[in-house]
Amino acid sequence: MHRSHHCAQLTPADLGQTVSLLGWVDTIRDQGGIIFVDLRDRKGITQIQLEPRDNAALGEQLKHLKTESVIGVAGKVVRRPAGTENPALPTGAVEVNASSLEILNLADTPPFPLDDDGGDKVNEDLRLTYRYLDLRRPRMRRNLEVRHRATKAIRDYFDGQEFIEVETPALFKSTPEGAREYLVPSRIHPGEFYALSQSPQQFKQILMVAGVEKYFQIARCFRDEDLRADRQMEFTQVDVEASFVTREDIYALFEGMLSRVWREVLGVEIPTPFLRIPFQEAMDRFGVDKPDLRFGLELVDFSETFRTSAFKVFQSTVESGGVVKALNAKGLSDVTQGELKSLEDIARSLGAKGLAFIKLEGGEWKSPIVKFLSDAEKAELTRRLILEEGDIVFFAAAPWEKACAILGRLRLEAAQLLARRGRLTIRADDWKFLWVVDFPLMSYDEAENRYVATHHPFTAPVPEDAALLSANPKAVRGQHYDVVLNGMELGGGSIRIHQPALQKRVFEEVLKIPADVVESRFGYLLKAFTFGAPPHGGIAFGLDRMVALLCGTTSIRDVIAFPKTQKGQDLMAQSPTPVTPRQLRELHIAVVPPQ
Ligand code: AMO
Ligand code: AMP
Repeated sequence: MHRSHHCAQLTPADLGQTVSLLGWVDTIRDQGGIIFVDLRDRKGITQIQLEPRDNAALGEQLKHLKTESVIGVAGKVVRRPAGTENPALPTGAVEVNASSLEILNLADTPPFPLDDDGGDKVNEDLRLTYRYLDLRRPRMRRNLEVRHRATKAIRDYFDGQEFIEVETPALFKSTPEGAREYLVPSRIHPGEFYALSQSPQQFKQILMVAGVEKYFQIARCFRDEDLRADRQMEFTQVDVEASFVTREDIYALFEGMLSRVWREVLGVEIPTPFLRIPFQEAMDRFGVDKPDLRFGLELVDFSETFRTSAFKVFQSTVESGGVVKALNAKGLSDVTQGELKSLEDIARSLGAKGLAFIKLEGGEWKSPIVKFLSDAEKAELTRRLILEEGDIVFFAAAPWEKACAILGRLRLEAAQLLARRGRLTIRADDWKFLWVVDFPLMSYDEAENRYVATHHPFTAPVPEDAALLSANPKAVRGQHYDVVLNGMELGGGSIRIHQPALQKRVFEEVLKIPADVVESRFGYLLKAFTFGAPPHGGIAFGLDRMVALLCGTTSIRDVIAFPKTQKGQDLMAQSPTPVTPRQLRELHIAVVPPQ
């Protein structure tokens, strides 16, 4: 049977035509001997009317027909009787009066309902086990389409800007500086391994040395990280690099790309240029380097207020170089005991020693710490936190970074609690983009007792800070930038080091990587830089994360056709699996039982 129309196509303009449709049985209803089938294909639904009364063969066929079976029908387009139209469907004014039915494949009863609401309620593991059924649901099909449209808009945009897409290898070499890698044993080089590429970073820099000037790639990347809603072991980057560019050029290029995607996919104009916030300020005001700007609830620093306080917890923290920060969760004084307990647990999990709070209820300050506070301290809190009846203030007294992280997390939790009470509106389609800039180039790794690159070792220092590289690496800002949307880090990049001597110095003097290790890992890159490397910079962008936000979901698993579970498994194909001793022998690998 050949398909004459798809299932979202027929309208009263087609009345009287003989058509043939192919698709899946969405629903079957028996109304007094007349059978109504909603036939579904990827475009939509058309109602089919089948009358088995005078047709024994058809009656026999219909006995076996279950939903999700694949069928073909041929028949005439007729108008639905008055009062039975479905204005919600594009085809809702007509139906097909079937003269023949061909069952192409019978289906077993699906293990869960395939409508949006029903499917959303079932356990995700079940959906992933039967992913081919899950992907039949309209919402999931729409997500795949949005991903396709976004990807196409991105390719068209970069093509229009004269960038060329270049593929780089997935099988790369091990570079233990980054995330944990997936190793791939070499059969023909016993005991040696490739590593799956974590990102095309080094290749794209080499492409700049090669004179490509404007590169992009929609690239698959692999990282052996703990999986979360916004992290998969294999994910897709929109990866970009260009020569002779400044940070401003990259901001404008990416703002243009995002505007185009939002316009083409959602029909929404996003305002540009985006806000820019230095890292230090983002931490101070929002407690994170990826702030959600859809609501306020900003953190306020009270270190000076409590420097000489009678409340020893705060006073001693400031004396020893820490800070006291506060968050007014406006209107949340009716927080329940249970909620308060879980906020305290979260604070403790981030290293807080406790969670001091003050509630303003019935015109009074209610708090275990209020007896320690002077009138002047209370006045200062009232003024700077704009305290009112019904508020609750949380405090964190700790080293700066820790205090920021604790309250930054509580800010998000408080926003959720307020939203649930209808006191704060956080809309998924309120698009608050920003650039976070001026990150520190290096961070001190307590465990390793040395500096590590905040992002990666190829980021160039801000020129005026470069002189401090050896003396005070912590004070050096990197030419790095992150683009953030509604609390999610969408992408990040930097202007790179392009002089071999500076790159070598960063590896050896600042990061303290032994010279022979630098040579074996990065020697080829340093050598390439000696043959005329242009100044260059770029960025990479999490395509999965962007599409998730476009689709209004917070889980990237919803926008990846075949994602892994949180435990890194493919429940449908059942992987990972053991392999045969012969395969292992061939790869020169011995499996050691877990300790
Ligand atoms: P970075 O490591 O920040 O930068 O990665 C860029 C973006 O990729 C996305 N991303 C992920 N998405 C899903 N699952 C993951 N496990 C995952 N890890 C990262 C994020 C992130 O912002 N080479 C540099 C970029 C550059 O400097 O040009 C890099 O890879 O959205
Ligand atoms: P304490 O005097 O230790 O009983 O603490 C008094 C209050 O301050 C309690 O509510 C503690 O939870 C809280 N608290 C203790 N240490 C800190 C801290 N570092 N930051 C914020 N609150 C704290």
